[in-house]
Formats: sequence, structure tokens, C-alpha cells
Amino acid sequence: MNVFHGVPNSIPKGIPFLDLVAPHVELEHELTEVFRQALHTAGFVGGPIVEEFERGFATFCGVSHSIAVSSGTDALRLAIMAGGVQPGNVVLTVPHTFIATTEAISQAGALPEFVDIDEHTYNMSVEMLQQFLENQCTKDKSGKLISRRSGRPVTAVVPVHLYGQMADMDSILRLAGEHGLTVIEDACQAHGAEYFSKKRNRWMRAGSMGRAAAFSFYPGKNLGACGEAGAVTTNDASVADKVKMLRDHGQAKKYYHEVEGYNGRLDAIQAGLLQAKLAHLTKWNAQRRERAAEYNRLLAKNEAVTIPHEPSWSRAVYHLYVIRIDDRAGMTDHLQKAGIGTGIHYPIPLHLQKAYASLNYRVGDLPVAERIAAKIVSLPMFPQLTIEQQLRVVQVVLAFLDSEPSSKHVSAEFIELAAVERPP
Ligand SMILES: Cc1ncc(COP(=O)(O)O)c(C=O)c1O
Repeated sequence: MNVFHGVPNSIPKGIPFLDLVAPHVELEHELTEVFRQALHTAGFVGGPIVEEFERGFATFCGVSHSIAVSSGTDALRLAIMAGGVQPGNVVLTVPHTFIATTEAISQAGALPEFVDIDEHTYNMSVEMLQQFLENQCTKDKSGKLISRRSGRPVTAVVPVHLYGQMADMDSILRLAGEHGLTVIEDACQAHGAEYFSKKRNRWMRAGSMGRAAAFSFYPGKNLGACGEAGAVTTNDASVADKVKMLRDHGQAKKYYHEVEGYNGRLDAIQAGLLQAKLAHLTKWNAQRRERAAEYNRLLAKNEAVTIPHEPSWSRAVYHLYVIRIDDRAGMTDHLQKAGIGTGIHYPIPLHLQKAYASLNYRVGDLPVAERIAAKIVSLPMFPQLTIEQQLRVVQVVLAFLDSEPSSKHVSAEFIELAAVERPP
């Protein structure tokens, strides 16, 4: 990911949105050893290396089972299927997420329906979920919850722990419990994120609270493979067994197929690479939290910028550092000209995507997600991001705001002060 091309001469160095090279160079010796081992054993698919990673990742998440699969999308699809969702069921989720969330729901044969997000955390709004369950559903004669929108039974909810911060799981689990819904976490962006459960009186990790959860190890994730990979986590042995069977052509024993399944297994090389990187994940997550705290400190006083909100019950792992700003296009353009990479996660809420025209949602149906999508921008965030790079990013952001006549904010000079005043 090289953004150094085309940067004006006056800019000493570009700052990438994400530096994927640095961690791989740092771990080069360990990682190449994985390839050597695989070549010498020819154990390419499944086997002890995959099982070792599965045990390691289950321990990291605080669950009894982790099942490695070929991507986060597969993980979510298999978790939804193994969690008991039947074809034709409605699965509730948020419109402010990557499309893989709803692809997995559709590919499991179910129908996604949307609940709006919380204005501050950008995750599923508990209030909106409650309203949906109470006002947009009815019960049929057998007591099944039926969506008024589609006339189909609602059986599951998929909260997404977006940007590395967990959704309000105690409340979601309580509502789901009251209405007989299964909760499957989309934890694809939240490896190691924590939530303080009042119900259990302890911090709990992403992937350990729902019936099952899905993780992605796409290269840019907090824990990323050197290719495609994912995992399902669960404390339910029967869900784990079903996922294992589904990922391997529906067979519990070689050539004895209980159901038609998929080829969703993980390569041993990717598992070995992930196992090597897993040892560094806690440190990398802590570095991301430090970087986020530094951005917050530098940007918080500026009224034109809305920094991420981390409730007291959350310890986010900042897969992305996302701010909100009115003139998003102007600012990203300005940052790009200064050689600073940014991202927009995500510009169009799913209910308004062409792919979901058949679901018949309209502009205005999910107003918070729509409003947020127009203003968010993701700033450079990765564990190796230096303080100097951060100061430069913030300096360019503030210089842009300085040039905006309407914005009320702290001047770019603040940044020079901040650089001096920064605690050791
Ligand atoms: C929220 C979310 N869900 C699901 C996925 C799907 O993961 P993968 O790309 O590994 O299939 C991703 C990955 O980008 C994601 O961010």
C-alpha cells in the first residue's frame, strides 16, 4: 500500500492509511519458517498446524471452540447456519457495515432486515432494536415472531462490532432472549475488543458472548493472514461440530456426508502465519489504543471534528479510527494532496445499495446510518504509526479546518503546542 507516488516535493514523506509491510518485515524470519515447515511436511490443508491455531485463538477469545475457515464471510455464513437459522428466516442486522455481513445472511438462505445504528458508537442501536421487535413485528398463532415488512419469521440478530468496538451485548442479548432470537456476533473487525458485562460482572472478549461469532483474518485486520482466512468461535459444542462439518463438505468422517456442505477449510500455511502473529496481537492492540488516545487528545478540542465515542463498558481495539466532519470530501482531498491516506467505511449504507434494491428500503428509512455515512472518514491507523506521523496527520486536518470559514475549532498552531506538551 504505497501512497508515496505523486506526493508534492514540499511534503517530506507520505503517510499510508495502513502499513502492511512493516509488521511482515518485522516478523520475516518467523513467517518464512512457516512456509519452510509446510514445504517439508506437505501438510497444506487442515492438520495439526490448523488445530494449534484454533486452540490458540479460542484461548485468546475466552471460548471453548474456534473453528478455522477460509474467510470471514464463510465464518459468518457457517455460524448463522450452524446457529439454527433456517432458509426463509429474517436475520436482523445493521445497515452500517461491510456488505459481507448481509451476504452471509443471504447466502445462508435468510433475509436481512435492518435496525438503525447508535449515533455515538455507530453500532446497533438497542433502542431501535427494541422498537423493531415491539412495533415492526407481530406474533403468529404458534407464538413465532413475524416481521411485518416481509411476513417471515425473525429468528436471529447479527450485531456487528464495527471499527473494533463491541456492540452493547448485554442489552442485545437480553432483548434477543425475550424474543427467542439467536445472537451471532460479526466480530470480523474486533479481535480482542472487550465489553464489560454487568450481567456476568466481568470484561468479556468479542466472540465470546453470542451463540457463535465470526472473525475475518483478511490481511488488513488487527490479526491478518497473508491471504484469506477466518474463524468461528463458540462455547456451544454442537455449533462447533456443525461448523466443522459444513466447512468440510458436510462430512463428519471421510466420505460419509451427513449434509451437503462447502469447501470452507483453512490452509495450514495461513494457520501457521496466524499463529505466529497471534503472539503479537495483544501488543498490537495496545499500540492501536495508544494511537487512538493520542488522536483523541489532539482532536478532541476541535468542535468541527467528532472523535470516536468509547463508552465506559467498552475497550475498543481500533481496527479503524473514524472521525466525523461536515466537509468530508474537502478534507479527504486535502489529506490526499498532502500524501496522507484515508478511507471511508462505508460511504453508502447497505439498505440503499443497488444490490439490495429488491428489499425496497427508501432514503430516510434508517436516518442515523444515512447521516453518519455522509460524514465519516477513517484516518491512518496501524500499530506502527509513529507519533510524528500522527502529528502530521492532525496538522493537515487542522490546517484544512483553519481554511474553512464556518468551522469553530482550535487552530493548527495548537498542534505545535500539543507536540511540546505531550506527556512522555
Ligand atoms: C464487518 C465485516 N464482516 C464480514 C467481513 C468479511 O470478512 P472476509 O473479508 O474475511 O470474508 C468483513 C471483512 O472485511 C467485515 O469487515
